Amino acid sequence: MKQYKRHLITAALPYANGPIHIGHLAGVYVPADIYARYLRLRGEEVIWVCGSDEHGVPITIKARNEGVSPQDVVDRYHAIIKHSFEQFGMSMDIYSRTTSAVHRETASDFFRTLYDRGEFIEHTSKHYFDPEAGIFLADRYIVGKCPRCGAEGAYGDQCERCGSSLAATELIDPKSALTGSELELRDTLHWYLPLDRHEAFLKQWILEEHREWKGNVYGQCKSWLDGGLQPRAVSRDLDWGIPVPVEGAEGKVLYVWFDAPIGYISATKELTRDWERWWKSDDTRMVHFIGKDNIVFHCIMFPAMLKAHGGYVLPDNVPANEFLNLEGDKISTSRNHAVWLNEYLEDFPGKQDVLRYVLCANAPETKDNDFTWRDFQARANNELVAVLGNFVNRVMVLTGKYYDGVVPERGGMTDYDGTVLEELSSLRPTIERNIERFQFREALKGVMEIARLGNKYLADTEPWKVVKTDPARVQTIMNIAVQIVANLAIACEPFMPFTAAKIGAMLQAAPAWDSLGGDSIIPAGHKVGTPELLFERVEDAEVERQIEKLKK
Ligand code: 2FM
Ligand code: ZN
Repeated sequence: MKQYKRHLITAALPYANGPIHIGHLAGVYVPADIYARYLRLRGEEVIWVCGSDEHGVPITIKARNEGVSPQDVVDRYHAIIKHSFEQFGMSMDIYSRTTSAVHRETASDFFRTLYDRGEFIEHTSKHYFDPEAGIFLADRYIVGKCPRCGAEGAYGDQCERCGSSLAATELIDPKSALTGSELELRDTLHWYLPLDRHEAFLKQWILEEHREWKGNVYGQCKSWLDGGLQPRAVSRDLDWGIPVPVEGAEGKVLYVWFDAPIGYISATKELTRDWERWWKSDDTRMVHFIGKDNIVFHCIMFPAMLKAHGGYVLPDNVPANEFLNLEGDKISTSRNHAVWLNEYLEDFPGKQDVLRYVLCANAPETKDNDFTWRDFQARANNELVAVLGNFVNRVMVLTGKYYDGVVPERGGMTDYDGTVLEELSSLRPTIERNIERFQFREALKGVMEIARLGNKYLADTEPWKVVKTDPARVQTIMNIAVQIVANLAIACEPFMPFTAAKIGAMLQAAPAWDSLGGDSIIPAGHKVGTPELLFERVEDAEVERQIEKLKK
């Protein structure tokens, strides 16, 4: 294993054509935030970069439908996304955007370097042109009859009825999805990255040197590589994007999947003048957090671009997640079947950590998963309120009541006390190992185990009864209970930062990660603050309102 000095974390740049929804959060941003927070708490040098992906065809279509400019569309959603990430406690070091001047220059220079080195091939081919709109159409915007099953309304890249992948030119009687008009096939020149030239390298690098990647990621890479790589077009005929920086390329822009990952580099440049230390040192460990639909771009295409350019680090890991469904159905922006982060933050003020908790506990780490409002309610009430909140509250209230908030001395310990403290310290390596392996659900279970252990300890030792007969024993019990609360303040931080801060405020202490697992974090004689409820119950009416909202 290489010795790394710093961690460069990236999270997929969301398209600025809509707000963020829970699928994005569960798959990409909640895991990335947990990981970044954890590494920082461990004292590692970390930056986490992200930003809006503001190019691509869907943005131009949305602008066209609304009668506004693409820049208006991305300005609107970039602001919404950035604000909702901030409110949700996402600790990215920078949230940039791909319409920034720095990005335009960075992506343009990157293309030019590959071009000058002869890393592209030029190729003219026939593409469908919509004479009414005056533009070449992306495959998604061409509809016609499926040549395989005969279904009407198949897209230029896929038939949704029979599932076949299609080439637009295979469609029978193709029409423009934008204007409905007949299409013309016209010649157009594009630049291609010959991925086949990088195949041997990618096979060695992924299939041999990165066997530790998650099964879903490794498997997808293997099937792409086994199938043989083809040249991929890196330019498009479009009037929205970064112009292809080559003479005679008027009307052509960089393909959005060429410029977007370079956005990670430009965001780093905007963050620090020292960006090359992050991108061009062998001892940087880069990790890309993405959803499964992005695997080929982050494991094959972007590494091939970086390799062709030379001098850049490649990702050490790409912990892609599967998808989150909602109430048994695919999340869909067009059908408005989604829980939007900005709306959640309005509907559930102060409940960021409840959503963070539920999305992590139910994260689609190895298979697609389902989010339901009933499950959200059950986890909030039965786990956060009844286990975590209840334990912390009981300890704080009893400490206030018996000792006026001053942590009591610990006297002689029983065997049982010793066992509980041992179990407490044993949870730390489990939590750490799971986070380091990107198994955040398991790690979070470990955190909740601390609270369960605390509840069991109180139930078994019954300080409220013993206080009448053996007050000295109760001092020991409460001292230990306070140490368990302190452990929770630490362990919650990567997962539920707002809750960790609240517990810290109640304890009047900010214990460091290094003391996790310890049994003497808060010294006797320390005065804690006043108790405050960590979580409120989620009521039936609230989830019913959300379920109704989805039906509309
Ligand atoms: O799938 C998506 O939402 C893309 N906008 C992700 C881009 S990731 C990166 F390459 F920028
Ligand atoms: Zn079909």
